[in-house]
Amino acid sequence: MKTYRAALIGCSRMGAFIDNEVAHNRAYSHAAGYEACDRTDLIACSDLREDVLARTGERYGVPKARQYTDYRALINIEKPDIVSVATQPEQRAEIAVYAAEQGAKAIYAEKAMAASMADADAMVDACERNGVFFNLGTNRRWDPGYDQMKAVIDSGRIGQLKSLIIHQTGSLFNSASHSFDLLMRLNSDHPAAWVQAHLSQGADAIAGHILKADPVGHGIIQFKNGVTAYALNSGRGLEVEAVGDAGTVTSLQNGEDWQVREVVARDHRGRNVLGWGEFPKVEQESSTVRLIEDLVHALDTGEPTRCGVRLARANQELIFAFVESHHKGGARVDLPLKDCPYRMARDFAPRQPKFERE
Ligand SMILES: NC(=O)c1ccc[n+]([C@@H]2O[C@H](COP(=O)([O-])OP(=O)(O)OC[C@H]3O[C@@H](n4cnc5c(N)ncnc54)[C@H](O)[C@@H]3O)[C@@H](O)[C@H]2O)c1
Repeated sequence: MKTYRAALIGCSRMGAFIDNEVAHNRAYSHAAGYEACDRTDLIACSDLREDVLARTGERYGVPKARQYTDYRALINIEKPDIVSVATQPEQRAEIAVYAAEQGAKAIYAEKAMAASMADADAMVDACERNGVFFNLGTNRRWDPGYDQMKAVIDSGRIGQLKSLIIHQTGSLFNSASHSFDLLMRLNSDHPAAWVQAHLSQGADAIAGHILKADPVGHGIIQFKNGVTAYALNSGRGLEVEAVGDAGTVTSLQNGEDWQVREVVARDHRGRNVLGWGEFPKVEQESSTVRLIEDLVHALDTGEPTRCGVRLARANQELIFAFVESHHKGGARVDLPLKDCPYRMARDFAPRQPKFERE
């Protein structure tokens, strides 16, 4: 079996060192994912910060000669099969488009996909024209627990899916990118028809069409298949419930616990009486490794990946639809967006990753 050559661009937290921050010991950063996957080798890395680059090389065994401050040189010289783009969204499109145009066969891009819809469109175009497989780092899409939650929905145990309630959207690019992807996935990636939203923080940092901060928002997403999603910032932490006409399935404490309620009896009027059901067993696995294995499978077989560049774009479009709805006083915004002039352009320094586990 072929081993694919992977390169990492952006070697900070999600790129290489977030494993030192998370409670579990499953590979979470891109670099740890490539190390844990037996079909990939991390052969080169790039970062603008030389200390971060050197520590990445040291930790993951990438020699000095294959550490680059210029990502273009990395791509031109190393010609990797898979390129990870774990920078902030502002730099994503430029790097992803270059990788797609210069021969990368697969891209693992962090969320949020991009800083503007124009950037997202450029990424779609470059990937589709060059036949490049794409996955977005919305990890829950590859998390075994959420797979089981989706299996409960798809099995019909909770009846016809009516609504989805997620309790944490947070800042749109950083957090809602995860939440929106999860809502999309649980609803089998049916397209959205419209959104209505409010920005509770960060609206004052929108100057013209420039977002100088990542705004915090909540709102409603109406999907075309009739399912309504309520994207809240209730204070409950990341918990999500799928409500069917014959039960519910709920993820608690960010996927640590799960509950099913299903029909156990009928009352005197023939209405459903719900009782506790059993949630299927969850075998924990690294969602990052599963995402990478999904890319490997696509490269082996030519079959599409679980996310793909179009769903990543749809996720990005929901983010900007929330911004647009707020801008219009909470009005309903129909999708697809026609013209979207917004762009996020923050002025902030990257954080220092934790090189060691504390
Ligand atoms: N999937 C997840 O659960 C998860 C968790 C954390 C962060 N993230 C996402 O990962 C991304 C990165 O987050 P972070 O906290 O690691 O960011 P960070 O700001 O700490 O690091 C970004 C790194 O990219 C580098 N960089 C910027 N421009 C570059 C270029 N042109 N060439 C090479 N390197 C360049 C910077 O020097 C920096 O080291 C963000 O989009 C974030 O939302 C995802």
